Amino acid sequence: MTTSHPLFDRLRAATGGGPIVVAHRGDSMHHPENTLAAFAAARDLGVVMQEFDVQTTRDGVLVCMHDESLDRTTDACQRLGPGALLAHATWAEVQRLDAGSWFDQQHAGERVPTLATALATMLPRCVPLIEHKTGTEVAYLDALRSAGAMQACIVQSFDWQFVTTVRSLCPDLAVAVLGPTDRFRTPSSEALAIAKQSGAGMVHWQANALTRRDVERIHAADMLVCTYTTDDELGWAGGKALGFDAMCTNDPAAALRSGGGSS
Ligand code: G3P
Repeated sequence: MTTSHPLFDRLRAATGGGPIVVAHRGDSMHHPENTLAAFAAARDLGVVMQEFDVQTTRDGVLVCMHDESLDRTTDACQRLGPGALLAHATWAEVQRLDAGSWFDQQHAGERVPTLATALATMLPRCVPLIEHKTGTEVAYLDALRSAGAMQACIVQSFDWQFVTTVRSLCPDLAVAVLGPTDRFRTPSSEALAIAKQSGAGMVHWQANALTRRDVERIHAADMLVCTYTTDDELGWAGGKALGFDAMCTNDPAAALRSGGGSS
């Protein structure tokens, strides 16, 4: 299975001055995570790539949210009762929620974005790095096709079977695997062989779980190394020294100031 893709070539070309700065859930240090405000801010900083989380509502709309529960990042507790799950809520319910007030009053009224509006905010200036959390392969492909974004984004998941299936349904799609997983605590040779079989051109791993040898092994397998989540100078310097290609951060402005790559 070929894992090459023009997007990975573009990322490789952008790594000249050190790891690419990847905004984690947008500029989530200064805006509510996974909202259009966070995505627009990171885009305007000039980051090359933005990571964000995607799940499906009960009625099949793909939206940007990290947690299964709506409580932490919306006012669902007051509107729907405590403990409401995104998977049990309809799009009509979700789009009425305030996804900004929990962060600060300046962002009151911010909404939970759909995958489509997130893509429209990022493209063409940033590469959307879409983390599948829930939803079917077909739902993602339909959304990307409708947005004209099939060639422009990377789909990743901790569920490597999802990655394999979505890529087999659309060989033009750039995909990445996330780890560690229950099966693979490290990016071992066995793990990388399976990642390659899935079509992944990038391995996205917890930063402080990687060794130099891991990075060399991933590069030898012709895949990029992306990491999560680093918000301090020491971590960025360490990632550069170890040869990481891309690093997720909640504070992309500080990461760019510290010398990470921009677009
Ligand atoms: O996508 C990288 C990182 O955010 C993965 O962890 O917990 O946010 O899904 P998590």
